[in-house]
Amino acid sequence: MKLLEVEDLSVEYHLPQGKVKAVDEVSLTIDKGEVVGVVGESGSGKSTLAHAVIRLVRPPGKIVGGRVLFNGQDLLKLNDEDIRKIRGKEISMIFQDPSSYLNPVYPVGFQIAEVYEAHNNTNMKELNGEVVSLLKKVRITDSEVRVGSYPYELSGGMKQRILIAMAIALKPKLLIADEPTSALDTTIQAEILSLLNELKEEYGLSILFISHDIGVVSKIADRMIVMYAGKVVEEGPVRRIVEEPLHPYTKALVLATKTARKKKLFSIPGTPPDMFNLPKGCTFYPRCPYAKETCKEWNYKMIRDHEGGVACAIYENTGSS
Ligand SMILES: Nc1ncnc2c1ncn2[C@@H]1O[C@H](COP(=O)(O)OP(=O)(O)OP(=O)(O)O)[C@@H](O)[C@H]1O
Ligand SMILES: [Mg+2]
Repeated sequence: MKLLEVEDLSVEYHLPQGKVKAVDEVSLTIDKGEVVGVVGESGSGKSTLAHAVIRLVRPPGKIVGGRVLFNGQDLLKLNDEDIRKIRGKEISMIFQDPSSYLNPVYPVGFQIAEVYEAHNNTNMKELNGEVVSLLKKVRITDSEVRVGSYPYELSGGMKQRILIAMAIALKPKLLIADEPTSALDTTIQAEILSLLNELKEEYGLSILFISHDIGVVSKIADRMIVMYAGKVVEEGPVRRIVEEPLHPYTKALVLATKTARKKKLFSIPGTPPDMFNLPKGCTFYPRCPYAKETCKEWNYKMIRDHEGGVACAIYENTGSS
């Protein structure tokens, strides 16, 4: 049994202008100890997918279909109290906008201790040693002093380490990390990635790692899924995707990473799709250099092999993917 099995998960936002299918029948699995990356441009539905997995989609958003099996149990069927017990303890999350999750008026050590207290009824005073060793684990130097620091006294990288500490405090089985390195410069980004890799080894942690940057994902993930306009367009082992991307959108994402490394600018041609008014057929065809007339009428279909799959008409009649 997989640790996490997401099956045909769909989330919609109902807004005065219309309906957005932010996550449209997305499926993915994560094994114990596995890191699965989710990549895609801004607005492709990555955060919405992450929130849906732990049932944190708020109105005007609504989960409208699918299953989220965690250790075989459908999280979408649990009552509010039972899902609260799983959040933090079994599945924890590092949110995309870290600064808004640290309270400016409390020392960071107190905020970490609160995580323990909320789930274990432990006495706050007894927790200091535990918190200090957790800060050491996320490689915060002078942790005995830092435990009393306020968020404004810490750098962006240190704040991200505090959030990682909060996320691993209760030794969860699955960590969902939503763009955990995007706000950081390259050196700190590399440090955070190596920290997450270490924690993964030490705790046997599984990670759902979200980023718009395929280069970052390839440094940590075993497999990845690529999202476009709320749908999975490609999935497979990281190495295969980076070396031999199949979907034209994935090819463009890989090219964007390679040219960025050479300090040249490359952006994917065309504009991201209007989510209120998606084109019929393949949603990528208006931007696709390989598009044929028939792509306008194409019905989404994932062509699978033993390693993953691709959802593109080019591969439909070849028997390969
Ligand atoms: N609270 C909300 N209310 C209305 N629409 C929303 C809300 N959150 C997300 N959406 C819409 O859902 C779609 C997916 O958004 P989401 O934030 O999941 O994308 P993302 O891939 O995480 O993007 P980013 O890379 O910018 O973080 C977008 O069209 C977005 O406008
Ligand atoms: Mg996001």
